[in-house]
Amino acid sequence: MDPARNPFRATLGATPPLLVGRNEAVQNFAFALDDGPGAHERISLIVGPRGIGKTVLLNAFEDTAEERGWFVISETATKGFVERIRSEIIRRLARQRSHLKGLGLSIFGVGGSVTWDSTSISEASYSLRNALDDYLAYKASLDRTTGQPASGVFITLDEMHHQRNDELIEFGATIQHLVRERKNIAVAMAGIPSAIKPLLSSQATASEAPNPITFLRRAERVELDRVSDEDVSLALEQPLAESVTTWTGRALETAVNACQGYPFMIQLVGQWAFREAQGRSITREAAERGADKARRKLGQLVHEPALADLSDVDRSFLVFMARDDGPTEIAALKARLDRSDSYVGNYRRRLIDAEMIVEVGRGRIDFALPYLREYLREHAASLVI
Ligand SMILES: Nc1ncnc2c1ncn2[C@@H]1O[C@H](COP(=O)(O)OP(=O)(O)OP(=O)(O)O)[C@@H](O)[C@H]1O
Ligand SMILES: [Mg+2]
Repeated sequence: MDPARNPFRATLGATPPLLVGRNEAVQNFAFALDDGPGAHERISLIVGPRGIGKTVLLNAFEDTAEERGWFVISETATKGFVERIRSEIIRRLARQRSHLKGLGLSIFGVGGSVTWDSTSISEASYSLRNALDDYLAYKASLDRTTGQPASGVFITLDEMHHQRNDELIEFGATIQHLVRERKNIAVAMAGIPSAIKPLLSSQATASEAPNPITFLRRAERVELDRVSDEDVSLALEQPLAESVTTWTGRALETAVNACQGYPFMIQLVGQWAFREAQGRSITREAAERGADKARRKLGQLVHEPALADLSDVDRSFLVFMARDDGPTEIAALKARLDRSDSYVGNYRRRLIDAEMIVEVGRGRIDFALPYLREYLREHAASLVI
C-alpha cells in the first residue's frame, strides 16, 4: 500500500482496511460451510441499524466461501432479483458449456440453451429452481473431478428492506426445497428487519410444504451491534501501521471516544482525522476537528436518510425522546406526548423494527444510532409536524 495514502474507507458497503469485532460471526459461518448440508448457519439473516456493517459482513462471508471453493452469487433484494440470479447462472453455465455434457442438466431440454442466451430461455421453461439444480450439479461434478472437498453455491442478498414479497416467497420456497434435499446451498441475507417483519410474524401455514416463512424464521439471525472500544482502537491504529502518518499523544483516545463503537464512525473519524493531520502527525486537535467533520457527515449520510424513511409521527416521537440526555423512560415520554399506552407502545415497536431505537432494560428506550439525539435537537424545528 502507498504509505502516504489515506487507508480509511468511509463509504457504505466498502470493506474497511481492518474488520473488527466480527470474528465470531465469520467463524460460525465458516463452521457451517465445513459441517455440510443441514448446518443451521448456512441460512443466515444479518440485521442491524444503518452503517453497523451488514454489507461488509456479507462481503466477509463471500470471501470465506470463496476461500473454500464455493461459487458465490451476490445480489440485492431489489425488484427483479430472482430473474437476475437466474440469468447470472445461465451466463455462467454458458461459459462452461463444453464441460456440461453428460451431467443430465435440464438446461439442455429447453430450446434457448442452443444459443445460450438468458433472455431466450424463459422463466416458464427454466425456473430459478432448474437453474440452481443445474449449477449445483455442475459444481458437484467439478469438485469430483478436481478432487477438492465438496462445496456448493452461496447466494448473498443485501438490502432486504427493499425486498418484494412475491419474489422473496418464490426465492424462499426454492431454497427450502434445496435445503430439504440436502444440497450444498448457503444463503446470507442482510437488511433492516422492518420490512421482513410482517412476513415473519404472519401465520405460517400448517402444511409441511416448504414455505418462505419457515425459511426466514429458521434462518440464523446475526444481530449486529456496536463494537468494543478496544476493537475501535485497533481499527483506527492498525491501518496506519505502514503509513507515514501516525496518531500522536492522546489523539487516538479522542478519536476512539468519538466513534462510540459504531463501525461507520470508525471509518469517518479515521478518514477525516487523517485529512486534518499536520504533516505526518495526527494531533489531538486534528482528531477533534476530524471527529466534528465525521459527525456532520454522519448526519448527512445516515441520520437524514434514516429519518426520511419514517412517518411524520415517528419523527415527532424521536424528537420528543431527544429532550432526554440519556435513555428515555416510556412512562415519562407518555406524559410528555400526552398519549395512551397503546399509542406509545405502537410507535415504540415501529421504531424498534426500523432499527432507530433499542430497548434498554424494562420501560426504557434509547437511540440505536450515535449522535442521532444531537442531530434531532439541531433539526427539531424542521422535523416536527
Ligand atoms: N467491523 C467493522 N470494522 C471496521 N469498519 C467497519 C466494520 N463494519 C463496517 N465498517 C465500515 O462502516 C461503514 C458501513 O458499513 P456497511 O456499509 O457494511 O453498513 P450497513 O450496515 O450495510 O449499512 P446500510 O444499512 O446503510 O446498508 C463502511 O465504511 C465500512 O467500511
Ligand atoms: Mg448495507
